[in-house]
This record gives sequence, C-alpha cells and structure tokens, in this order.
Amino acid sequence: MNHFRLWALFASLACTMNGTALAAGDKAAILQRGAHVATEVCNACHSLKYLKYSDFLKLGFTKQQVDVMRGDRNMGDPLIAQMAPGDALAAFGIVPPDLSLMAKAREGGVGYIDSMITGFYTAANGNTDNHVFPGIKMPDILGISQADPTSRKALLVKAEDVSTFLGWAADPMAESRENLGYAVMAYVFVLTVLLYLLKRKIWKRLE
Ligand code: HEC
Repeated sequence: MNHFRLWALFASLACTMNGTALAAGDKAAILQRGAHVATEVCNACHSLKYLKYSDFLKLGFTKQQVDVMRGDRNMGDPLIAQMAPGDALAAFGIVPPDLSLMAKAREGGVGYIDSMITGFYTAANGNTDNHVFPGIKMPDILGISQADPTSRKALLVKAEDVSTFLGWAADPMAESRENLGYAVMAYVFVLTVLLYLLKRKIWKRLE
C-alpha cells in the first residue's frame, strides 16, 4: 500500500464519521420534537411508565427544559397518564395502553405507530375510522382526517417525530450500543494499519 492509498483510506473514514455525526444531529432534533409531542399530546391519555422525566436529559434537553415538561411532577417520576384510568375507561370504553414498549410490542414497530396515528379518515357515513386499526377507540388526536393538504404535511412530520421518539423510548440504549460499534471498528481499522506498517518494517530488514 503506497502513501496515497493510505491517505485516501483515512480521508474516506473521516468523511464517513462526519456523515454519521451529521445524521446524529438530525436524529437528536427529531427525538426532541417527538418528546414534546409525546408529553404534550399522547401523555394526556397514555402512560409511558418505563420512562422517567430525568430520561429526557439523555436526549440533550437542559434541566430547565425538563422542569417545564414535568410541571409539578418530580424528576424521578415515571410518565403516568394525565387522565385517570377510570375516566379514560368511561370516556373511551377502554384504558389506553402504556406506550413505553409499544414500538417493540407491535409488529412493524415505529412504522406501525406512524401509520396508525396518521391512518384516520372520514368514512362514507361521516364517522371517523382508521385504515390501520378499523374501529379503534382512540380519537383522531392529530386531526389528520380533517386536515387540508398543507396542514396535513406538518401533521405527518409530527407523527413521524413522535413515532421515532417511541422507538427510542422502547430501547434507549440502542444508540450507545451503535456508537460503541463504530468506536470498535475505528480501533480495529487503526490497529490494522499500524500492524501492516510494522510488518513492512520488519520484512524490509529481512530482505
Ligand atoms: C384522547 C385520548 C388519547 C390520546 C391523546 C392518544 N391516544 Fe392513543 N389510544 C387511545 C385509546 C383509547 C386507545 C385504545 C384503542 C383501542 O384499543 O381501540 C389508544 C391506542 C393507541 C395505540 C395502540 C394501538 C394498538 O395497536 O393497540 C397506540 C400505538 C397509540 N394509541 C398511540 C398514540 C400516540 C402516539 C398518541 C400521541 C400522538 C396518542 N396515542 C394519543 C387514546 C388516546
């Protein structure tokens, strides 16, 4: 391997890592927006009992921002639904399920949640129904079935944000696992180059 090829390899590795960092920045913004939707909309009816308010710090929110999100609840409290289960049962005929592990519980995970919450439409009889879950007892909470094309676009982004967030909530350690993977690969790569150079040096002496 000549020096040029070695540098080309290093340069491409650097670009890849830079790209990963950029994508990570986008993802962080999506997760933060999704966390807002989850706490401000979904949490009215659904609990996310395996998440604590302090977990939001892991998404890059400041302590002050989390203080606003939790209101009079404590940092260490789980996200219990604002509506009491009995009231929800009376209103919807069913207690809304906990959402913390929903992205793992349903086949299709994040994609399923996204399609379900955007799947509402107005049926021929004037009632609202859902393409993905016909007869669902959850109301069209984002207002998808009533939206005009422009506002619909914004709602679709909102739905994607909150679904992505629920994917994170179901497996908050996934990202650090992935990052560890990248670090290990970078380490192995550098080690390979060093060992190769060492091998060349040793063999030169033998020639
Ligand atoms: C006004 C109360 C209410 C709000 C707000 C609400 N939901 Fe629901 N949700 C329900 C009810 C009730 C059910 C149970 C529906 C059923 O089983 O028929 C449900 C069920 C679900 C399910 C499970 C569907 C399944 O396959 O069993 C998911 C996923 C879900 N909601 C996501 C969300 C998300 C995401 C939000 C926030 C954008 C949200 N919900 C906001 C009432 C609500």
